[in-house]
Amino acid sequence: MKSIYLDHAATAFPKAPGVVDAISDYLLNNGASVGRGLSEKAFSAEHIVFDTRERLSTLFNFPHPNHVIFTKNITESLNVLIKGLLTQGDHVIVSSMEHNAVMRPLNALAASNISFSKASCSNEGTLDFESLKTHLKPETKAVIMTHASNVCGSIQDLKQVGEFCKENKLIFIVDAAQTAGFTSVDFQALNAHAIAFTGHKSLLGPQGIGGFLIDKALASQMRTFIEGGTGSLSDQEIQPEYMPDKFEAGTPNLPGIFGLNAALKYIEETSIESIRSHELALTGRFLEGLSTLPTVKIIGKQDLVNRTGVVSIDLPKHDNAEISYRLYKEYGIATRCGMHCAPSAHETLGTFPQGTVRFSFSHFNTIKDVDAAIKALQKLLRP
Ligand SMILES: Cc1ncc(COP(=O)(O)O)c(C=O)c1O
Repeated sequence: MKSIYLDHAATAFPKAPGVVDAISDYLLNNGASVGRGLSEKAFSAEHIVFDTRERLSTLFNFPHPNHVIFTKNITESLNVLIKGLLTQGDHVIVSSMEHNAVMRPLNALAASNISFSKASCSNEGTLDFESLKTHLKPETKAVIMTHASNVCGSIQDLKQVGEFCKENKLIFIVDAAQTAGFTSVDFQALNAHAIAFTGHKSLLGPQGIGGFLIDKALASQMRTFIEGGTGSLSDQEIQPEYMPDKFEAGTPNLPGIFGLNAALKYIEETSIESIRSHELALTGRFLEGLSTLPTVKIIGKQDLVNRTGVVSIDLPKHDNAEISYRLYKEYGIATRCGMHCAPSAHETLGTFPQGTVRFSFSHFNTIKDVDAAIKALQKLLRP
């Protein structure tokens, strides 16, 4: 049985062409660290690391490659940003669609008298901007918001949120886990202060590499999350203040950076617009097919406006987990069932506690894959 992978919102597979070769070439033929040696290999590794910072700067329309920081994933990026910024008495505003990568660090800070409010979202997962405004307090320091829901694919109008932050002198941090590589995420147009990304989803790179872009003012006001060797200022026992070293202690994930570099090249060559239009074409076909299945409830947006290629369904007459399991077992179709690490999003969408069966498409899926999923659902849901 041919397997069909429709779980790209969790992690993309396959990775972009060139990723595996770039990683294996680095491990087989280079293997040097950066900032810690004088060999040709170390210089060539340093070149790729800087080239990757530059490519990410271009992708996010961000003018300072040295302010692109590598971490192991967006969860780490958000922890570094949240815990490095907030201090006792601070308040932040989030949306009710956030992933636990935002909610768990914020809840962990409750004991330090750091609070948050959730701006409400519609049952399509779209931010209610009026609700956001009502949560503003004198002690509000930041707005932290996901660009697109990992549960139902709704994309938020973050330009409006960025303008609100600018007017009210708030720091604006964006979780671009589901949009980087799928649609434009423009640092300057959004008036963002930091944008966090992860390499292994729509950026089509390997696991274990992520990062964030951070503007100069925010970088200088933040505390570090970890400290240690950077290969620079080695005679001092104090973490350097300059970038990117301030936030990059320890040997970086060089295989991951080489892999991400190749993935970024692929995205540039292919163009975000063509990636996006292909994924939306698949999503449109899937939504059309779902609409012929009377026992399927499509969760969130029903159309292609302001959305990614993530579609969640609820099956009130069936057990969601059983259908997800049977899709895989009997038809080789991999989906994800449950809460998708975003319980608040499910409360917003009316799918708590049962969760949803989530289908998510990538640039490498085909119309045939979509049709096979619809056909399998038709069979499994037959009365
Ligand atoms: C919106 C969003 N934020 C954060 C994350 C966490 O990503 P990672 O596991 O790569 O840190 C995810 C992954 O599911 C996500 O979809």
